[in-house]
Amino acid sequence: MDISKTLSSQAKPVRACVVGLGHWGPNLVRAIERHPNAKVVVAADASPERRALVAQRIPGLFLESSLADCLKKYDFDAVFVAVPTEFHFQVGMQVLEAGKHLFIEKPLASNSQEALELCEEAARRNLQLMTGQIFLYNGGITAMKKYVDSGELGNLFYINANRTNLGPLRSDVNALWDLASHDIAIFNYIFGALPMQVTCSAYHLLGRPVEDIAQGTLLYPGNRVAAFFVSWLDPQKKRDITVVGDRKMLTFDDMRPERPIKIFDKGVTVSRPDEYHDTFHNFRMAIREGQSIEPEVTTGEPLVNECSHFIDCILTGNRPLTDGQLGLDVVRVLEALTRSFHENGKPVSMWQRDRASASPAAQIQPAARPN
Ligand SMILES: NC(=O)c1ccc[n+]([C@@H]2O[C@H](COP(=O)([O-])OP(=O)(O)OC[C@H]3O[C@@H](n4cnc5c(N)ncnc54)[C@H](O)[C@@H]3O)[C@@H](O)[C@H]2O)c1
Repeated sequence: MDISKTLSSQAKPVRACVVGLGHWGPNLVRAIERHPNAKVVVAADASPERRALVAQRIPGLFLESSLADCLKKYDFDAVFVAVPTEFHFQVGMQVLEAGKHLFIEKPLASNSQEALELCEEAARRNLQLMTGQIFLYNGGITAMKKYVDSGELGNLFYINANRTNLGPLRSDVNALWDLASHDIAIFNYIFGALPMQVTCSAYHLLGRPVEDIAQGTLLYPGNRVAAFFVSWLDPQKKRDITVVGDRKMLTFDDMRPERPIKIFDKGVTVSRPDEYHDTFHNFRMAIREGQSIEPEVTTGEPLVNECSHFIDCILTGNRPLTDGQLGLDVVRVLEALTRSFHENGKPVSMWQRDRASASPAAQIQPAARPN
């Protein structure tokens, strides 16, 4: 059932404000307006040049230079924040203190203390807080989760992700915080757990103080492994993920949105020693090369799915899939990865970090989360 259509006939429309109209903010305006029961009443950007550009692109949109001006002059229920990450906390707090529901782009904040304070403030005021971990609204990732949870792949061995492109180059955050934040959200979601230990290497290659490439390995409970490589200095745009289970394997390729998922009936069969084998090498292990299928996947535009989900959560009071806690978890993993690359790739135990920290949210154990 399409909940958006059902709600549209009954509920009062959600009035939205969008703050930050750079590369991403105008996409949010368009996606919010696709919901039958939501309206962008005003948007703000600090830069007069950006406002002039957006005025041309989206005629009729009311524009202000700050959230404060929007709050003074307009009435709205929710704010979508797409300013650079370093300002997420400052703008996000202002939104919550004004009593508005908050959608905030990924990563939720620049550090876990700020992310925690946003979660606590939203909870105290009984407001919705959702973070824009867009890949959890991607039909391919939803299908991946369904296949993993159904047991079709068996027990998972590992997940490997590549996220590369030439640009966009950011200067407010490095490639780890910008790009791998997506992969960490996906890993935590697919494994239904937080990592116990992480290692990371990251390098700045363009002579700027932000790292342009990063690779990391995350160890999850049950000896399950996730690895990523991210770069904004690569000739090819790749958004691919491989999930390897002990029964079947799966690939996700976001560059093939019409058929993003492929399932391979392949694996290694561990044989009993008393069975006949023709060579010593495959005495215990036999490679199984079965068929592969490309199932049909319900996709839809992930950004529209994401914005609709937030609006529906405001209307129904349901908790968003990518709530503040999920955003905080991602930030905590990013911090651990950052510590690892600052210490030349040393393994960082998230378990020990949790115990050493005084902050209540940092005491969350790397245990399974209900999905
Ligand atoms: N989900 C995704 O796939 C995705 C993609 C791109 C960007 N993002 C996220 O969106 C956010 C913005 O990214 P971007 O690429 O649009 O950045 P950007 O630098 O292109 O744009 C940011 C805009 O915010 C404005 N701004 C900054 N502080 C402000 C304030 N206090 N009040 C009003 N305006 C302010 C700037 O003038 C600028 O126009 C980041 O958090 C980024 O991680 C998410």
